[in-house]
Amino acid sequence: MLMEPEPAKPASASRMSLAIVTQPGEANPYGTLHGGVLLRMADECGAICALRHAGRGQITTAAIDSMTFLGPVFVGERLEFLAEVSYVGRTSIETRIEVYAEPFDRPQRRKVAVGYAVYVALDESGRRPRPVPPLLVETDAQRRNLEAARARRDVRLARRAEAQASDGPEPGIVS
Ligand SMILES: CC(C)(COP(=O)(O)OP(=O)(O)OC[C@H]1O[C@@H](n2cnc3c(N)ncnc32)[C@H](O)[C@@H]1OP(=O)(O)O)[C@@H](O)C(=O)NCCC(=O)NCCS
Repeated sequence: MLMEPEPAKPASASRMSLAIVTQPGEANPYGTLHGGVLLRMADECGAICALRHAGRGQITTAAIDSMTFLGPVFVGERLEFLAEVSYVGRTSIETRIEVYAEPFDRPQRRKVAVGYAVYVALDESGRRPRPVPPLLVETDAQRRNLEAARARRDVRLARRAEAQASDGPEPGIVS
């Protein structure tokens, strides 16, 4: 049976935010947040955003890249994650994730990280990629961003090909 293509969706339909208060157990010995804690939350926020765009079913993370840390996050600060769909291919959805921190007692929000994550929608088997709704481009800024998004996709796919081709170091050899 031939499936009808799904209608395009705007980025505004799947914008997502999550927030946490950072805890002592999430800090390194210097009292600042482990980057891995931030990455995990960023992935969760991006994944929910991508899932909303996909509309149903299962998605998986294909890549998290270009996560740039702009400054430290301190224990006890409120950390906020904002994700928005920035590009959609046939089966993949790229989200741009921005992260903000602010002291618990003062409304002084600052940007602490920015990055991109790509999710792939999967069919009922949970293994094969399946098509997702296209992205409805609404603004000139979004239109201009498409070029950069395609360039990011090309870099990721080249990186994947390189990773698939390389064997890496032999296990068990410590130099
Ligand atoms: C992501 C995955 C489903 C892609 O499956 P595949 O059979 O290689 O599929 P394809 O090569 O047809 O790629 C499907 C889509 O994913 C995109 N894609 C695949 N690998 C990618 C990568 N490393 N970075 C960015 N996009 C990627 C492709 O560009 C394609 O997008 P499009 O349909 O929008 O053009 C598969 O590689 C996988 O399962 N990876 C592991 C995911 C996982 O376990 N994540 C959690 C890690 S803890």
